[in-house]
Amino acid sequence: MRQHVNPLSKNFHEIERIPSLIEMFGDPKLNLHLDIGCASGEFLFDLALDNTNWNYLGIEIREKLVKTAKFKVQQREIKNLYFAFGNANNILNDVQSKFIIKNLKSISFNFPDPWFKKRHYKRRVIQPEFINLLSNSLQKGSLIFIKTDVKDLFDYMDYTISSNLSFKKIDKKDFNSSESFNPNRFQTNREKYVIVNELDIFEMIYMKI
Ligand SMILES: C[S@@+](CC[C@H](N)C(=O)[O-])C[C@H]1O[C@@H](n2cnc3c(N)ncnc32)[C@H](O)[C@@H]1O
Repeated sequence: MRQHVNPLSKNFHEIERIPSLIEMFGDPKLNLHLDIGCASGEFLFDLALDNTNWNYLGIEIREKLVKTAKFKVQQREIKNLYFAFGNANNILNDVQSKFIIKNLKSISFNFPDPWFKKRHYKRRVIQPEFINLLSNSLQKGSLIFIKTDVKDLFDYMDYTISSNLSFKKIDKKDFNSSESFNPNRFQTNREKYVIVNELDIFEMIYMKI
């Protein structure tokens, strides 16, 4: 399985239509969380099975992972979890998907690809235009969570989000995770690896104001 795919490749120009909330979820009125770059979705399976009072949507650019995750959702008849394949930037930039951003309570970017070389920075999922798009459509009070083990990437993401005046940082000690999308603090696969290997984790929470 390829670990990195180029999100700017023309393979991802055509996007999967995201169905309406009622088509995706058993109860479309539940709080909605979006995980961008969800890989095989194990983190979202943990969340969805534990917190049946939230809906979870994962977007992932590696098609095979999404196909397998969708199959597992069907097999297990999970009604509060949906996976979509494609470049999250293209999907959410599409007018047909505006309703998703408007309905989100929170978004997570967990350990996104760092794209270390400067000429590859454009491939990073967090871009100023993308943050503008979110700031224009997210409801006030919606949250963005970022987490990475790469300090440079953290600085870049933090600068990009903080430069948009519609977001303010939330101090972690003032944050009550029991009411969030992840009350039991499940870890993503990358996070488990980072913890086992005693690497640093850099994280921040932002609120749309
Ligand atoms: C390092 S992995 C982290 C996976 C998972 N979030 C975790 O914490 O274990 C980053 C994931 O983001 C996906 N990804 C990268 N850019 C993306 C994009 N523009 N849209 C959707 N997924 C993307 C990659 O394919 C990969 O699965």
